[in-house]
Amino acid sequence: MARNKRLLLLPGDGIGPEVMAEVRRVMAWFDKRRALGFEVVDGLVGGISYDRHGTPLTDEVMALALEVDAVLFGAVGGPKWDHLDFSVKPERGLLRLRKEMDLFANLRPAVLFEPLIEASTLKPEVVRGLDMMIVRELTGGIYFGTPRGIERLADGSRRGVNTEVYSEAEIERVGRVALELARKRRKLVHSVDKANVMESGVLWREVMTALHKAEYADVELRHMYADNAAMQLVRDPRQFDVMVAGNLFADILSDCAAMLTGSLGMLPSASLGAPDGAGRRRALYEPVHGSAPDIAGQGRANPIAMLMSYAMMLRYSFDLADEADLVERAITGVLDGGLRTADIMQPGKARVSTEVMGEAVVSELDKLAA
Ligand code: IPM
Ligand code: MG
Repeated sequence: MARNKRLLLLPGDGIGPEVMAEVRRVMAWFDKRRALGFEVVDGLVGGISYDRHGTPLTDEVMALALEVDAVLFGAVGGPKWDHLDFSVKPERGLLRLRKEMDLFANLRPAVLFEPLIEASTLKPEVVRGLDMMIVRELTGGIYFGTPRGIERLADGSRRGVNTEVYSEAEIERVGRVALELARKRRKLVHSVDKANVMESGVLWREVMTALHKAEYADVELRHMYADNAAMQLVRDPRQFDVMVAGNLFADILSDCAAMLTGSLGMLPSASLGAPDGAGRRRALYEPVHGSAPDIAGQGRANPIAMLMSYAMMLRYSFDLADEADLVERAITGVLDGGLRTADIMQPGKARVSTEVMGEAVVSELDKLAA
């Protein structure tokens, strides 16, 4: 008897709860039609957790995250909590989840939906057919390196310190994820670093080169400096298949790649740990966009990135590729039909709210499954 799959839903702050509500709607549809058998637990993360418990992530929620089969995460943060000490800022909740779940590989696909081609700030002929995957190292680098902090100098002035640090093992395990993914795609990996100025980048390049040579000669590996990668992303994004980079570079490059597709509101992500003995990976799925406090509570948020994150969860955590395809096809269908949230609005299209977009996806699922 297959045991129930357990999910932890962490909607968080800002537009997080609004977009998560649309995932619940789609989950309810699957429950009724396909009985996927998810048992759902809810938890607090971010500012809302700080307001209630004085911490952006309680030990109880952390323990739950380690126990369940997958975590679905909305977004955290907002001006209300900007003044807080670093140790309790909403973002620390997310960073603690990533670190303690050991989610070292963050997959950020940037795929252009043809109906949205006019929503991109780049020319259609530059972005048509774009389909790339950024693999971001997520538990190391300057986000977590020590020493870190703000220190007082002898002359009374202060100095802020962060440290970029990568071990061979950290580089190799994320490099392996990128090379494996490329094998199932167009067999090309761009490894991004600043080996021209940083020792950690020199090591990054050496480890990637050695791993490639030893085990992945069937995949093409190219190295690129991070600044050039930023330029190439807007010049000719379709040259990329898989791009792999450290935590900070990939944070920046993935926002850029996401925007090529028209809106940050479209892009999902999966954060994965190492497979255990049974082949099961810890996993957290979240949209690439943030909490967007400026539009929170107005029904203007685009739920598609969150819904696509749910689809990624079906695909990567539960091997439900058909169901994942169905969600993605329903979203494409709705966009083809001309519905748009504010962020992807175009002349001649119908502007709809977060809820109406979610309802439309469910109607489309009905049609596709009929
Ligand atoms: C992201 C975000 C986070 C990050 C923030 C919210 C901590 O920008 O997931 O890209 O910097 O990693
Ligand atoms: Mg970011």
